[in-house]
Amino acid sequence: MTGQKNSASAAIEAETGRATSDWARDLDILDQRYIDDPFSVWQGLRSQCPVAFGERHGRAWMPINYDDIAAIAHDTEHFSSRRIGVIDLPERGDGPLLEAPPITSDPPDHTWARRLLLPAFAPRQIDAMTPITQSLARELVDAVVHQSHADAAKDYAQHIPVQVIAHMLGVPASDEQMFTDWAVRILQEGFEDLENSLDAILEVLDYFGERVEERRHIPVGDRPDDLITMLMEADHDGDPLGERHLLGSCFLLLLAGIDTTWSGIGSSLWHLATHPEDQARLRADPSLIDTAVEEMLRMYSPVNMGREVLSDVHVAGCPMKAGDKVIMAFPAGNRDPAHFERPDEFIIDRAHNRHFAFGSGIHRCLGSNLARMELKVAIQEWLARIPTFELVDPDLVTWTGGQVRGPRTVPVRW
Ligand code: HEM
Repeated sequence: MTGQKNSASAAIEAETGRATSDWARDLDILDQRYIDDPFSVWQGLRSQCPVAFGERHGRAWMPINYDDIAAIAHDTEHFSSRRIGVIDLPERGDGPLLEAPPITSDPPDHTWARRLLLPAFAPRQIDAMTPITQSLARELVDAVVHQSHADAAKDYAQHIPVQVIAHMLGVPASDEQMFTDWAVRILQEGFEDLENSLDAILEVLDYFGERVEERRHIPVGDRPDDLITMLMEADHDGDPLGERHLLGSCFLLLLAGIDTTWSGIGSSLWHLATHPEDQARLRADPSLIDTAVEEMLRMYSPVNMGREVLSDVHVAGCPMKAGDKVIMAFPAGNRDPAHFERPDEFIIDRAHNRHFAFGSGIHRCLGSNLARMELKVAIQEWLARIPTFELVDPDLVTWTGGQVRGPRTVPVRW
């Protein structure tokens, strides 16, 4: 795996004159070596120190054991979600630019903000999205199947989640490129160019402000049946949602599902391209798809989140101070040998797989049914039409990291 040196990290190296040589006490999650291969870093930490610490991007702790991460995820008294970035964006004006309920809310507000959204992501709603996802995946395969090569990330994985969530929100699929650019500027390039990321956040909020305004001119009852209308017409204790809440939730629904699922699909196709035995086994026995998807999610969990320490507390003997950041490395917990047998091995029919790719506790992913369906359909439709495939050249594959880890270029041939 290779990647361009991350420029935020490079700037810090230039200032300090060195890249980290001590992952336990001088953690740098933007170091390209960590982005390319976090797995060996976690292996080293496990035998040395299960809670890494660093100050390169503000004081931050990163527990890597499953039980420690789960305990923090469940402890909303000491750990807040009001700063969920693994690295903080600078603030403009007074306080945070963006609230994105429920992901940035703590109880009690979190409880009702989440409840409003739950029905839209229930299994029945997701079943209704399956045929749409299948036909989208088929169209994407149609466009490349007659060639002998494609970029499994750029030509395929990247398009599926954005189009599906656009459909559910009720925004035009023709705006896809703009949505993808926002996801890239906010979640992938955000740590290198914080100002550009803040501008992109404002653009997303303006965009949804316009969509809401359009709907306000349509009488209730005639508005399109989509997530934007649902949020506009929702209430809390009889009051409509405030503008900040409404637009922030739209922002969250657009962004939470794009980069995450794109990364999950991309990693899955990368795995199949680099592990011919798993590809052959899944082709020979398609009934393995459900356990294969869970194992992909465990092995290549894309999402890391942040928490803010609210009051001084010890975790695994480490003194965390109020204001410190905790990096919730769910992907590291998914490789914990205390919870998973042979954790660094891909076992396509793994029977016990209580991974937390989707997090744990009150913020557990609200879109997990949708994400699982998209991953399953994307892999099935690709395997149905694309013959046995492999990487063109492993050195051409690039990965991004930070909040969401996934491959951005996966050139394959068949
Ligand atoms: C493979 C794909 C995905 C992964 C790995 C993933 C992962 C996660 C994780 C780890 C969290 C917990 C955040 C925390 O603890 O702070 C989360 C929350 C959330 N996810 Fe996902 N996600 C995925 C896809 C989606 C999709 C498709 C949607 C749909 C829009 C979505 C919507 C959300 C929302 C709304 C929350 C916040 C829930 C809350 O705060 O109560 N996710 N996700």
